Amino acid sequence: MTQTIADSTGTREGAVSAADQYNYDIVRKFTIMAIIWGVLGMTTGVYIASELAWPFLNFGIPEISFGRLRPVHTSAVIFGFGGSALFATSYYVVQRTCQTRLYSDTLANFTFWGWQVAIVISALNYVSGYTQSREYAEMTWPVDILIAVIWVVYFWIYTQTLRRRSQPHIYVANWFYMAFILATALLHIFNNMAMPVSLFSWESYSLHAGVQDAMTQWWYGHNAVGFFLTAAFLGMMYYFVPKQAERPVYSYRLSIVHFWALIFLYMWVGAHHLHWTALPDWTSTLAATFSILLLMPSWGGMINGIMTLSGAWEKLRTDPIMLFLITSLSFYGMSTFEGPLMSLKSVNALSHYTDWTVGHVHSGALGWVAMITIGSFYHLLPRLYGTRLFSQKLVYAHFFLATIGIVLYISAMWVAGIGQGLLLRAFDEYGNLAYTFIETVEFLHMPYAVRAIGGMFFVAGMLLLAYNAWMTIRQAKRENATADASIPAPAAH
Ligand code: HEM
Ligand code: HEM
Repeated sequence: MTQTIADSTGTREGAVSAADQYNYDIVRKFTIMAIIWGVLGMTTGVYIASELAWPFLNFGIPEISFGRLRPVHTSAVIFGFGGSALFATSYYVVQRTCQTRLYSDTLANFTFWGWQVAIVISALNYVSGYTQSREYAEMTWPVDILIAVIWVVYFWIYTQTLRRRSQPHIYVANWFYMAFILATALLHIFNNMAMPVSLFSWESYSLHAGVQDAMTQWWYGHNAVGFFLTAAFLGMMYYFVPKQAERPVYSYRLSIVHFWALIFLYMWVGAHHLHWTALPDWTSTLAATFSILLLMPSWGGMINGIMTLSGAWEKLRTDPIMLFLITSLSFYGMSTFEGPLMSLKSVNALSHYTDWTVGHVHSGALGWVAMITIGSFYHLLPRLYGTRLFSQKLVYAHFFLATIGIVLYISAMWVAGIGQGLLLRAFDEYGNLAYTFIETVEFLHMPYAVRAIGGMFFVAGMLLLAYNAWMTIRQAKRENATADASIPAPAAH
């Protein structure tokens, strides 16, 4: 069972006429903002990583202290960079695969401005010390309401565009994007139910309490990983990998099995974040079981993506964009192997509260999420602007900087996390703790410094992407101006 993507290629003429037929303006805006948020959010990541290695960098200023900047980092990279990239690619993919224009330009613009405003207000809130204290859901209640409205509009635009499709088939990438849109609305609304302190205050109280509150938060937290950071990026993968490889998806049947298995299993695993807590033991056993099962669809998807290149492996030698896409799938495979392992209660007893978790997060976030996005953007940029990419060489340079950065980051975190876990649970012959807490902290200094350096490599790569994008856009403008000038003026009568 194969399925080619009903779509035309990105020649200059093709792109110019496609730009009239489709709403590319909204895709361009979200793409540019994703790159800007990527640079800002990851630079903040490097700063907070440096604060952990060299605490004097807090300078005693509350607004730039680690605690306040950390949610600025996570929001800027997950929602600013990742979210904008998902809006951009989903709006592009739904139009191309349905061969129809996006439902409403005005509503699409509303999602763009609303989303950017939500992230800016959130960042200002966090540096000023206002937060709901729920990880990845730190936004204050007015921002939560704004996001809920944006999300309903997003859902409406997407479904209406699907309804107007001129193709009978709904290509699998759209299924992944739809699951992400639906699940995010459900998670966001349920996890953020709260009572504001007053109409004029940023503060609120959660409607959930005690262990149910924790359970709701991690049901949200893991599904944010499952649907926001995974399912949606799989939608990206199912469109851009076959496109860049110029081949159909390896197995369309497998992509459907992948989809249903993944969305069914993810919803159950949140409690693996709460092993060894007041949560009933059976819930965390259930979560661990489903986490192990998740390995299968995750690897099915990874294999499906990588094997799409079968018969065209030489592209890995000649095409740097393919390097990004295939490497991202390898990291997807690696982090979805590590995750189930960490969900085992015995392993989690060591890994939880250590930097092993942070390493796992970033092998998924940098290796999978950022790499697939970057590869897709390099594919997308020339097509959006009807020109060639400014420099292939810079794409190679970016790939190596990014890969070195990730390897430094995650290997430093494995050393930090596993070392820290072992030190914290070491006993002497009398049964006393063998190390004081401060000794375990001292041990972290070197890996923290290496992580900060790894982050610098990754940000350097992002700057190359920004430069390449900027130069590609300038080149397109120049070419358009020359093309306009060469059109003969209409003859006078
Ligand atoms: C230059 C790249 C990056 C650097 C240097 C960096 C650095 C950091 C640091 C230092 C932390 C705090 C860790 C702690 O609390 O001990 C963190 C947390 C986090 N970052 Fe990044 N980051 C980068 C990129 C990204 C990207 C691209 C994403 C997502 C797409 C991301 C998602 C997260 C998440 C989800 C957390 C919370 C982890 C947890 O609670 O376990 N980061 N990052
Ligand atoms: C089969 C797939 C996966 C499973 C079963 C899984 C499992 C886990 C487990 C057990 C933890 C540690 C929980 C704790 O000790 O608190 C964790 C943390 C985390 N994982 Fe995964 N993981 C998977 C894939 C991924 C991927 C692909 C990403 C990123 C794109 C990711 C992002 C995260 C984040 C952000 C956290 C940290 C949450 C926090 O404490 O703030 N995971 N995961």
